[in-house]
Amino acid sequence: MKKHLILSQLAICASMALVGVSAQAADEKGSAQAGQGKVWLCIGCHSIPDYRADYPFVYKVPMIGGQNAAYIASALTAYKKGERKHPTMRSIAASLSDQDMADIGEYYAAQTASSPKNPLK
Ligand code: HEC
Repeated sequence: MKKHLILSQLAICASMALVGVSAQAADEKGSAQAGQGKVWLCIGCHSIPDYRADYPFVYKVPMIGGQNAAYIASALTAYKKGERKHPTMRSIAASLSDQDMADIGEYYAAQTASSPKNPLK
């Protein structure tokens, strides 16, 4: 069971890395520091690392900390354009500029499971 979980997570990571690489070309340059001031909106749902501790209540919210920056920015763009349908994420992404998305992507990409608890949470 555990082994299976780890393997499927690796597969997800690998596919996200591929998405990230292909999305990178046209992207704005993001800044993790600027992103830190822009994630207050996201923390209630995508809390890091409390995502795990909150289980099972927020288990449907994907963990975006540690994700590839370009992947995060391209996912946000897809919500903004309506290619991804989740209503809350769509309205949140609609308020973000390309620069915001790039900054937020860098911020979350810099998070790891061992990052200190986010002070804004
Ligand atoms: C109200 C709760 C909520 C808030 C606030 C929220 N999200 Fe989300 N987010 C979700 C849920 C639920 C999903 C999964 C939606 C889906 O299935 O498409 C999601 C999906 C995502 C994804 C796609 C992840 C993936 O692996 O495909 C990204 C990236 C993301 N959110 C970033 C953000 C950012 C950045 C913010 C703040 C600007 C934010 N979210 C705010 C609930 C939220």
